Amino acid sequence: MHNIKSDFPIFEHLPNLVYLDSTATALKPRVVIEKLTEYYTQYSANIYRGLYRISEKATQEFEAVREHTARFINAKPNEVIFTRNTTEAINLIAYSLGRSIIQEGDEIVTTIMEHHANFVPWQQLAFENGVDLKVVDIDDEGNLQSLDTVITKRTKLLALTAISNVLGTINPIKDIVKKARTLNPEIIIILDAAQAVPHMKLDVIALDCDFIAFSSHKMCGPTGVGVLWGKQELLQQMPPFLFGGEMISEVSLEKTTFQNPPQRFEAGTPAIGEVIAFGAALSYLESIGMDTIRAHERQLTRYALERLDQQFGDDIRVFGPQNEEDRAGIVAFRFRTVHPHDVAQILDQSQVAVRAGHHCAMPLHKRLQVPATTRASFYVYTTEEDIEKFIKALQNVKEVLCTRK
Ligand SMILES: Cc1ncc(COP(=O)(O)O)c(C=O)c1O
Repeated sequence: MHNIKSDFPIFEHLPNLVYLDSTATALKPRVVIEKLTEYYTQYSANIYRGLYRISEKATQEFEAVREHTARFINAKPNEVIFTRNTTEAINLIAYSLGRSIIQEGDEIVTTIMEHHANFVPWQQLAFENGVDLKVVDIDDEGNLQSLDTVITKRTKLLALTAISNVLGTINPIKDIVKKARTLNPEIIIILDAAQAVPHMKLDVIALDCDFIAFSSHKMCGPTGVGVLWGKQELLQQMPPFLFGGEMISEVSLEKTTFQNPPQRFEAGTPAIGEVIAFGAALSYLESIGMDTIRAHERQLTRYALERLDQQFGDDIRVFGPQNEEDRAGIVAFRFRTVHPHDVAQILDQSQVAVRAGHHCAMPLHKRLQVPATTRASFYVYTTEEDIEKFIKALQNVKEVLCTRK
């Protein structure tokens, strides 16, 4: 890969920044920032309703990104709904589809490794309808246990993540979907792909899920843009989630009719410039190549796991699969005798940015029997040199704070 860091203006401002928090949000390349500026300086009009040139230009750019997003995941454009983020995309399914299909006696299945965005909406749906929420456990390595005994004929929804934002586990989604559909052909499968779409090629046809959700900001795009993809036949059946402008077909004093998907689910003015700049992020990732990105992160993960082991051995507990083949570029860990927040604060003194806490996965941390972890995560701009700086800064933490018992 070329010197990717030079694509990211933040490194001109902060040349010594070691940014290891891409799981939370990715840095933005110049092309994305420029595209955002292009919209705001050249054609910053609202979309759809303007019969003048700059509005038509904005509409055309916006809709081109819908088509681009569809190509990126091998979907059809009218199956791509723009939301604010992954969280909103999942809530949209839970409110719209969930509340119209869940009935007494049904079950919802999710997993212990979910981000709260793919756990709390289902838990609330289960509470409100008095149905069971079943949670698939993990083994000691952080791999999902079998769904065989969990999914039954009563299971209406299966909501799971493609990649854990803490353990880094890459779940075998194709196999899981196949198995789930054998156990219950009626099941609806929702995939939280927030940590997958930015890091590897994902093909919605090949995976055969019913919905996937992801966020622009985790894939070098702007904040304020999420994507919900859903199978057309399901989207067609779903009632709107938010009501208002743009999503209607006709409104009278007596009644309102609604547009077809995706507009039915896009009430109000969207994040126009941000969606348009998200298109530049997709092009940027494509210019590197999703397979190259995955290979780069795999190599970095192997390097980080090896270096952590060499340098700290038993002083550090690393969570998740030990084999880099089965995990994404996410390494959550704990020094046995130092609080994760103290680790993050000391690393910050060396300009190493990592995250500490429960990473919006409290049930998982409870399962791991730790209140918090420190997490380093990698992306296209991360280098082995960054990992060396991280290891050196961790050595400093050990010298300052670690008193082995
Ligand atoms: C696996 C996973 N799901 C969902 C989310 C929520 O994403 P957003 O905050 O963009 O809605 C995150 C964010 O970290 C995540 O890692």
